[in-house]
Amino acid sequence: MEIVKVKNYEEMSERACDLIIEIVNKLDNPVLGLATGSTPEGMYQQMIDSYKRNEVSFTKTTTFNLDEYVGLVGNDPNSYRFYMNDKLFKHIDLLADRAYLPNGDTDDLQKECRDYETLMYKAEYIDVQVLGLGLNGHIGFNEPGTAFDSRTHIVDLDETTRKANARFFDSLDDVPKKAITMGIETIMESKKILLLVAGEKKAEAVYRLINGETSEEFPASILQKHENVTLIADEEALSKL
Ligand code: F6R
Repeated sequence: MEIVKVKNYEEMSERACDLIIEIVNKLDNPVLGLATGSTPEGMYQQMIDSYKRNEVSFTKTTTFNLDEYVGLVGNDPNSYRFYMNDKLFKHIDLLADRAYLPNGDTDDLQKECRDYETLMYKAEYIDVQVLGLGLNGHIGFNEPGTAFDSRTHIVDLDETTRKANARFFDSLDDVPKKAITMGIETIMESKKILLLVAGEKKAEAVYRLINGETSEEFPASILQKHENVTLIADEEALSKL
């Protein structure tokens, strides 16, 4: 794992954006794996700025997001589809029919999981997958205990994750209890992984990621086995190493 130590959140976002833009400009049909949450917001803003400066075009790019809540329609302000539209998609020239997220608003969730896998397979999998790090080591919505050989599946969200995400909702009761997420094996098939971490509250999780054993009890630990991971982390996140 390559560790890039940066000063703060802004520098993490800039470095991450540079890496993404380089890949998008290099490949004929780039496939990006994207995440939501607080961590990648700065990177998305940098990508928009870069697009507006004509440094990049996304017309040949396909994107797959890691996850989506079950039971929220796409225009619900708390859905990840809404987040992606708001923070990135509507500001750049990515084609709408190439911007994929799992659909959590369907009667047949198992079929949705299978269809999502098929779409990624047809796109020949992800060139670079952006990941944030959960306090309990989750990646995507793969909570502790998720099998390392899992593919896209439905999960019951951990209470700690629901509480951490409650800041975006009116109350904890409004936070969905289920989500669809790419599985660990799906994530590990990405050709490159870009893990972004900032802030002191993630320091313990980063320590465990780097120094802990590889265990399903700490899902992110599997990344030690991936041959092309770049961790961009700020000083605070690396403070326990
Ligand atoms: C988001 C996702 C989650 C987040 C993680 C960190 O699509 O899959 O695994 O990356 O919960 O969230 P933040 O960035 O808000 O600390």
